[in-house]
Amino acid sequence: MRSPTPSSASARRLPRQSDGSRGRAGIIEGVMRTLSFAALAAALLALAGCRPLPPSKPSSQWTAQEARGAVVFQQNCARCHYATTTGSLHGPGLQALTKQPTMPSGMPPTDERLSVVILHGRTMMPGTPLTDSQLQDLLAYLHTL
Ligand code: HEC
Repeated sequence: MRSPTPSSASARRLPRQSDGSRGRAGIIEGVMRTLSFAALAAALLALAGCRPLPPSKPSSQWTAQEARGAVVFQQNCARCHYATTTGSLHGPGLQALTKQPTMPSGMPPTDERLSVVILHGRTMMPGTPLTDSQLQDLLAYLHTL
């Protein structure tokens, strides 16, 4: 995607028109082409279901609670869920889980809803018995994704 296609590269090598007005039209045309390419790329990404997501908080900036939650996640959730993508493993990838209006089920990603899903499970997902402090740590971690 990043390297120019052979046709656009050779187009750029064509000699410039010396006529000033033609030159400006060429610049405008170039800008329009870039804009429509960006729109096309965004439309393709949307069609593919991979909208650009807000970035996760880097692990170097985690609070102590978020770091403890990451350990709870590794021990109880990571075998079925990716944390850094939305691609599925056994369950849906959880990147940007709490930054979206809804979870894959269509329910809002509130702490209450998440706690119920985590403790009691949902369809194919088994419930995970956690202490209250483990649950709070895990929720804090899920908010960093
Ligand atoms: C044995 C595999 C497995 C484990 C372990 C597991 N999950 Fe899941 N999870 C799933 C599956 C499968 C689904 C999809 C369920 C469905 O049909 O909606 C799911 C769904 C979810 C959802 C989306 C719920 C919704 O409403 O769309 C969240 C959030 C979630 N899991 C979080 C977790 C967390 C956090 C843990 C760790 C405490 C965990 N899961 C452990 C398999 C698992």
